[in-house]
Amino acid sequence: MKFFIDSGNLEEIKRIHKLGLVDGVTTNPSLIAKEGKPFKEVITAICKTVSGPVSAEVIGLTVEEMIQEAEELAGWAPNVVIKLPLTEAGLEAAYRLSGQGIKTNVTLIFSAAQGLMAAKAGATYISPFVGRLDDTGVNGMQLVTDLRKIMREYGFATEIIAASIRHVGHLQQAAAAGADIATVPGSLLPAMWKHPLTDAGIEKFLQDWKSVPQLS
Ligand code: G3P
Repeated sequence: MKFFIDSGNLEEIKRIHKLGLVDGVTTNPSLIAKEGKPFKEVITAICKTVSGPVSAEVIGLTVEEMIQEAEELAGWAPNVVIKLPLTEAGLEAAYRLSGQGIKTNVTLIFSAAQGLMAAKAGATYISPFVGRLDDTGVNGMQLVTDLRKIMREYGFATEIIAASIRHVGHLQQAAAAGADIATVPGSLLPAMWKHPLTDAGIEKFLQDWKSVPQLS
């Protein structure tokens, strides 16, 4: 499973990137706003650091606005992927952009029907929001499982990005569900490699090592 970092923060991304764990990056308007810098500055800096796909989301709500923005964003760097909301306009934009060879990530997906339509429209990636579904009392990971079955059943090349990941359980469940990618908040991954038993094990090894006779 590929790891994308769900962040607009370059330092967060660089910390994980140097471990070889960053296959791509996703951003959204809220993550960009947190950086307090111009959109193009944030995205181009990330694209220079990460060679994998970097999702940048359009703000426009009409097809023409989306297409116009997408064509500009796509010109910022060769690895920019255009993020489009799953609306009627977003589906048409995904269809038209795929015809232009521009990669898309259709986002804010909360049902299998939405994911299927995005794949049929030619989306390169689809982003089901697991955590936000969980927040409503629905099993968000079941959507990933269902979309995996649908993509496989009908031979779609569209890749599933498990998004809105809130904890290590989501990451593990996404892998078990067959997601192609999980996009993980930059602040969460460091918490995922830590485990108290690992810390305790290191402590015990160091303690026991003190009794090993040292050559004079
Ligand atoms: O960026 C898309 C998605 O990962 C957002 O997650 O935590 O805002 O629901 P979240």
